[in-house]
Amino acid sequence: MQSVNFIHMEDGTKEEYEFLHKMEAEYTTGLVGRLISMLGELENSFSGYKISRLEHSLQGATRALRAGESEEMIVAILLHDIGDGLAPYSHSEMAASILRPFVSEKLYWIVKHHGVFQMYYYSHHFGEDRNIRERFKDSPWYQDAIDFCHNYDQNCFDPDYDSESLEFFEPMMRRVMSNPHLGTPS
Ligand SMILES: [Fe+2]
Ligand SMILES: [Fe+2]
Repeated sequence: MQSVNFIHMEDGTKEEYEFLHKMEAEYTTGLVGRLISMLGELENSFSGYKISRLEHSLQGATRALRAGESEEMIVAILLHDIGDGLAPYSHSEMAASILRPFVSEKLYWIVKHHGVFQMYYYSHHFGEDRNIRERFKDSPWYQDAIDFCHNYDQNCFDPDYDSESLEFFEPMMRRVMSNPHLGTPS
């Protein structure tokens, strides 16, 4: 079978859906490669900082590596800003959604809200409440999100920091992303 015959999904047969399922599974094996390409594009993200968004992501992941954090945490940091190009108004949620099948609920939550927690470092300069993160203070992961941003995000704009390369992290990405916990898409 090269392709299915149906033009309306409601007309598809079991064999056709099995064929599509196999094609999709093959395509999914390329996920890590596509994510690495997207990370590479962060080299061309908006400027103004001393380093690119790619270098920022590598620096955060490298700091986490050297601090002895888990591979799941390191990969989450590597990908935390991957939505900058396509989701400028909701980049935290985009990264969290990509990570969700591969990381703990806690880490998913931290990445999903990291943009709000990052506001602590700058929003008061615009006359806004820097403590907006306190809306989440009842979460069991509130302090973890503060630590995530303090240790691996707000401090990762140093042009002199010696980060590992994207290639260095690829095997780690493959390990973390080799075992998705799949549920019904929501
Ligand atoms: Fe971010
Ligand atoms: Fe960031």
